Amino acid sequence: MACCRVPAARHFDNLAAVQGLSSALIQDHYRLYLGYVNKAHELCGLHAQAVRLKHDATDADLRNLKRDLTFTLAAARNHELYFGLLGREPSPRAPVLMQALREDFGPFENYIADLTRTALSTHGWAFTLVDHHTGHLINVTSAQNGQFPMWNASPVLAIDMADHAYFYDYGSHRTEYLSAIIGNLHWPTVAENLAAAHAVHAAATPHAPAPYAATPAADSPEATLPAMGSEKLLARS
Ligand SMILES: [Fe+2]
Repeated sequence: MACCRVPAARHFDNLAAVQGLSSALIQDHYRLYLGYVNKAHELCGLHAQAVRLKHDATDADLRNLKRDLTFTLAAARNHELYFGLLGREPSPRAPVLMQALREDFGPFENYIADLTRTALSTHGWAFTLVDHHTGHLINVTSAQNGQFPMWNASPVLAIDMADHAYFYDYGSHRTEYLSAIIGNLHWPTVAENLAAAHAVHAAATPHAPAPYAATPAADSPEATLPAMGSEKLLARS
């Protein structure tokens, strides 16, 4: 029986549509992701050998192997969530997402402002999660890969705030990078992630009331997400 499994690396054709980040930066970042996946495969193989040898708390080799395997698997998944969300769509309509954001943050601009402040507060990752304790959305951070922000939650959105994600193009201008990323977010994919998170929540809490009221019609004006850069929002707040 396998003690760990590592999914194959994913391709992200949507990255070709990203604007505001150079292809050199994107390609280098994607190569870093491939490195994490390859390392996870390598560590998984070593793990299969190591667990046959020792299995007590004094075994630093196994402990370090577990730490590194956790780090690389988390790094791969964080980057898959992040890369998968990039590639803007001109007129997104996502009524369920809009409703959830409005009920949890107020106007859409408030959500973007909170996401912006959350992301600028970390040099690791910013996430929007569905907290299964409440069924509602929350913006949180993790300092680095392998330090997932909290249990019993499903990620809906991730933004990489590590230096390697922006320094090649933006130097220390993190706000400009973040504005570019927010401008590239593919909101229908965020909405798909939210639907998946809500399905997990419904399965985990079958007797809990629905976290949100009735969903607006897909063609209602409020179902459209406005384009909003983080610089503008920071200036307004
Ligand atoms: Fe990264």
